[in-house]
Amino acid sequence: MNNQTIKNPTRFNIGVKPDRNLAMELVRVTEAAAISAARFMGTGDKEGGDGAAVDAMRAFLKTVEMQGTVVIGEGEKDEAPMLYNGEKVGTGYGPEVDVAVDPVEGTNLLALGRPNSIAVLGVAEKGSMWDPGSSFYMNKLVVEKKARHVIDISLSPTENLNRIAESLNRKVSDLTVFVLEKKRHEALVKEIRKAGARITMHTDGDVMGALMAAIPGTGVDVLMGIGGTPEGVIAACAVKALNGGMQGMRAPQLKEEIAQLKKEKINIAERLTLNTLVKSDNTFFAATGITEGSFLEGVRFDKEGGVTTHSIVIRSLTGSVRYIKGIHQLDRKKNLEGHKNITPTSVLR
Ligand code: FBP
Repeated sequence: MNNQTIKNPTRFNIGVKPDRNLAMELVRVTEAAAISAARFMGTGDKEGGDGAAVDAMRAFLKTVEMQGTVVIGEGEKDEAPMLYNGEKVGTGYGPEVDVAVDPVEGTNLLALGRPNSIAVLGVAEKGSMWDPGSSFYMNKLVVEKKARHVIDISLSPTENLNRIAESLNRKVSDLTVFVLEKKRHEALVKEIRKAGARITMHTDGDVMGALMAAIPGTGVDVLMGIGGTPEGVIAACAVKALNGGMQGMRAPQLKEEIAQLKKEKINIAERLTLNTLVKSDNTFFAATGITEGSFLEGVRFDKEGGVTTHSIVIRSLTGSVRYIKGIHQLDRKKNLEGHKNITPTSVLR
């Protein structure tokens, strides 16, 4: 340890815990990803939108004072040139953290100009995020904090809805359940209808669904159904920070996935609690709308070159939730070009 370390521990100390609101810095990262991706809205170009968001996210992550390791990223190193699992991100100073990224959550939504695509990332203390390994799909159940103790993913959807309604002092028919519109959910949808709850169906984007279910008053009370496992871990960072309830269970859908989990002798019936998905109580979450949404507005470009973004930023230690409207003047960001390490504006499209 040198003198500098002692004078300024948050800057130089290796191994410090995240003790400031990192999410306030992380929102600049999701804003940048959303602005870059938004140019691809409705173009049909899924890869283009994702690539632009990855470039921006990676460049802005370099400015965040942390020693981050991507745990949930764009894939393994050989298939993802950037933001791959295991990649180091951040300035290399400050707290050691696990990072989960989804530069475009809802790549189809963006490519088709449909609502609710977001740029999102979660951060938690080092070693605390669950590594999904060979598991691509999981069943998810998410609720707000008042109902968190009553949910049990091993019980039927009907039983869960009855318990949730009781804990919220509402009727099942008053509840709205977010479900991904997928063939695999036909039986689930039938059962929810029979139980009497309302359904809001979305082709993609269950991180947004989880976020809405965990925040009271959004119009979504419960998220149910099978979605991506990485998205489940990202959502868990937000649910943890919101003190909400979440449980999951692996639900392999692909032939290779089923075979691999079998080969690894993974118990797919294991209940994945919120603490399994993210062990730490010190989590941060930031998301910015790309296309317009019922919860977050999308990126808007105005005549004078201004860009408006709408984000949510959550920190678990304090429970603070901030909605941030950013008004960016991209032409003026050029004034920072001498400060290359501060704002990598050149990546913004
Ligand atoms: P992408 O942005 O990677 O396309 O993910 C969108 C999404 O809808 C997630 O929100 C969800 O968890 C997952 O895909 C569901 O996967 P699938 O479309 O294969 O059922």
